[in-house]
Amino acid sequence: NRSSGKQGYAIAAALERCGAEVTLVSGPTALPAPAGVTRVQVGTADEMLAACHSALPVQVAIMTAAVADWRPAEAAPEKLKDKATRTAIELVANPDILAELSEAGPDRPKLVIGFAAETENLVDHARAKLTKKGCDWIVANDVGGTGVMGGDANTVTVLDAGGEDAWPTLSKDEVAERLVERIAVTLG
Ligand code: CTP
Repeated sequence: NRSSGKQGYAIAAALERCGAEVTLVSGPTALPAPAGVTRVQVGTADEMLAACHSALPVQVAIMTAAVADWRPAEAAPEKLKDKATRTAIELVANPDILAELSEAGPDRPKLVIGFAAETENLVDHARAKLTKKGCDWIVANDVGGTGVMGGDANTVTVLDAGGEDAWPTLSKDEVAERLVERIAVTLG
């Protein structure tokens, strides 16, 4: 799905500034790679999953990508010429990368952090995602209004097994700094 990548890139840069060794697995975006970060560029969910597995073992995995839920079942090698009669395209489900990394067995990162963009019932939906995907934290944001997608500010609530932490509206850089601080404290 379309995504500016701004929040993920801000987190990669903040982690690097704090001394972490960072692999940034990125879908298509016009953003430059942050200094000191190893960027792996991918074009599909399958490629993203493979790149994430190749990056293991890691202490922390932070999953900000807006992965499409489905992809076309077949990629046509040539232009489709049946547009007068074709009214549907068959879709198949993409892998859930966050859920797979959350069950990566002995290679599972100590901390797996997902994001959740919701348009209503933010906390309930985000908590359901935390359980369903088996990750440790969910950073949830309400994208019901305008301005978050592609913008520079973000209002998030961080959920874990212990409760919820509603942060004020911050720049995406500040959200990244604060998240990195929370990670550093948690990992001691
Ligand atoms: N995610 C993922 N792989 C997918 C879909 C989502 O890794 N195929 C990750 C996202 O990077 C994010 C989290 O799962 O960290 C939640 O993504 P979201 O799109 O909000 O959730 P979905 O599972 O697609 O749920 P829904 O569309 O029902 O809200």
